[in-house]
Amino acid sequence: MKKTILTGIRPTGNLHLGHYFGACQNWLKLQNEYEFFLEIADVQALTDNFDHPEKVRMNVKELAIDLLSIGIDPKKTTLFIQSKIPEIAELTVFYSNLVTIARLYRNPTVKTEISQKKALFGNDGESVTYGFVGYPVSQAADITAFTGELIPVGEDQLPLIEQCREIVRKFNHIYGDTLKEPEALLSPTPRIKGLDGNEKMGKSLGNAIYLADTEETISKKIMNAKTDTTKIKKDDPANPEVCMVYYYHKLIKNDHLETVCEECKKGSRGCVTCKKELIEKMNEFLKPIREKRTYYLEHTEEVQKILEDGSKVAKKKAENTLSNVKTKMNINYEEL
Ligand code: TRP
Repeated sequence: MKKTILTGIRPTGNLHLGHYFGACQNWLKLQNEYEFFLEIADVQALTDNFDHPEKVRMNVKELAIDLLSIGIDPKKTTLFIQSKIPEIAELTVFYSNLVTIARLYRNPTVKTEISQKKALFGNDGESVTYGFVGYPVSQAADITAFTGELIPVGEDQLPLIEQCREIVRKFNHIYGDTLKEPEALLSPTPRIKGLDGNEKMGKSLGNAIYLADTEETISKKIMNAKTDTTKIKKDDPANPEVCMVYYYHKLIKNDHLETVCEECKKGSRGCVTCKKELIEKMNEFLKPIREKRTYYLEHTEEVQKILEDGSKVAKKKAENTLSNVKTKMNINYEEL
């Protein structure tokens, strides 16, 4: 029996290289080896975008197209939309009795996110919503609904997996063995640096290269990428290890990497030449993704069908979990 893998992604923007190399590339491998459920977490995205539902709505389609374009294969992966599975919401209600508010507030991920979202939740988090503080409970429902055993996530998500494990243990302790305790599967390359040299590439940091970027945009972004600031003249020797251009040459596996490195160190390679080469290689790397993107944009009915079919398969699985949960909780009224 193949193990079940479940992960989710919030539809709040297009995929960038940080997502691709930090998480998605690993998913492409996992979908060949495991039973893979991939959730477009629209309900979760609404917990901090409730005032902009149109943003979430628009990005569900964008994200689905991005995921299919990079090679998420609907024959191997069950790709589905969270809100299409109401069983998740029902499980969330049942699990909410097993979690204290104090514990939710102590969750490091929740804590960090509240302090990062001052515009939405106020300076001391005084406007934080019940839905937001409770999202770890909903995420535990995501995981258990599909009997997720291995959960590929970044480090920032570990406290959520831990909280899910606690809920599972408490459920099993009170109602009898029912749910499986999931395990986190940490990404081998969790963080990808941004164009500005920041340790993290992120949408809000404005330092990302998107898979959907046009050739023109890629060219502009790379021309402005951070290089070794001590290099003033074109033939000054420089240190590739502090240069983002070299970093991306490495990331997309330029086959002349050693030459790039040596020439940079010797001062025989100017930054403009180096950037132009990266632009070319980056476009080569993005070409097949762009082609698939164009295809899916022209065939959105296919994307729609993939999401509908995936959501049907996912729903069956969640119905089964919910039925087990209700039976154990004594709220199954098939017979009075
Ligand atoms: N919280 C995750 C994130 O922001 C997304 C997510 C939703 C998720 N449901 C999940 C991750 C279930 C793992 C399992 O990245």
